[in-house]
Amino acid sequence: MSTVNHNLNNNPVGFFDSGVGGLSVYSRFKKLLPNENTLYYGDLANLPYGNKSKAELIGFARNILDFYKAKNVKAVVIACNTSSAQAYETVKNEYDFQIFPIIQSCAEIIAEQSCGNIGVFATEATVNSHAYAKELTKYNPGLEIFEIACPNWVSFVESGSINSNYAFEDIKSHMQAMLSFNPQKIILGCTHYPYLINILKKFAPAEKFIDPAEIFAEYIKNHIDLNCTDSPGNEAIYVSASPESFKEHSKIFYNVKECCLLPKIEHSRS
Ligand code: DGL
Repeated sequence: MSTVNHNLNNNPVGFFDSGVGGLSVYSRFKKLLPNENTLYYGDLANLPYGNKSKAELIGFARNILDFYKAKNVKAVVIACNTSSAQAYETVKNEYDFQIFPIIQSCAEIIAEQSCGNIGVFATEATVNSHAYAKELTKYNPGLEIFEIACPNWVSFVESGSINSNYAFEDIKSHMQAMLSFNPQKIILGCTHYPYLINILKKFAPAEKFIDPAEIFAEYIKNHIDLNCTDSPGNEAIYVSASPESFKEHSKIFYNVKECCLLPKIEHSRS
């Protein structure tokens, strides 16, 4: 991962995701390190990330990282599995601040705590990359990984239709397919999926699911230059589209009071 700059301790930490999903990570980080200055970018103009090409995902990541570079961040948290799977390897050495990708940061800890069959629910782009299978078996070659794509789940969260019959039936059929593999644990490999936990729990006990956000927040805490003030950190939240929808659908994880609508950043590089 990128070089640590030990002189920039009080600079902000930037987070990004395609939408509200990354707030499942951000909210845990804010609880753990309330004095850190933080920025969050929800790229709703390009939502969903899960059906985009690798080249598009690299472009989105670079645009957001360039935006954060101009904000003089000390680190960026890729609070998005899809971007971590498809864009991180390409962009990781292009910036002089730390970049924390969710999958690669959590893999060692999850792998060490796991055995046997491990299920992964994720977006199509994450499943196609096999990033979870590759990263987890690097640390624990004995694991059998089953990755299942859930193309509709992000839209259930972002459109506020979590409690619809359609969402229930879709989640039920994916859970049935997953449980047929008899997984010891099921990783929620998209930061939007913890928003669905109340429905997922109807098909398997809560302990069956791993939300990498918990491990991730702790990992970042242990690897970041900490802010040395003892007053609550500042925050700014940006979206590239739909600020009202973002505020409304983020409520399960974070109370977004203000969010600033930025013009959609056009691809600056290919
Ligand atoms: N929340 C993201 C992830 O963790 C992206 C979901 C999407 O926009 O498809 O993969």
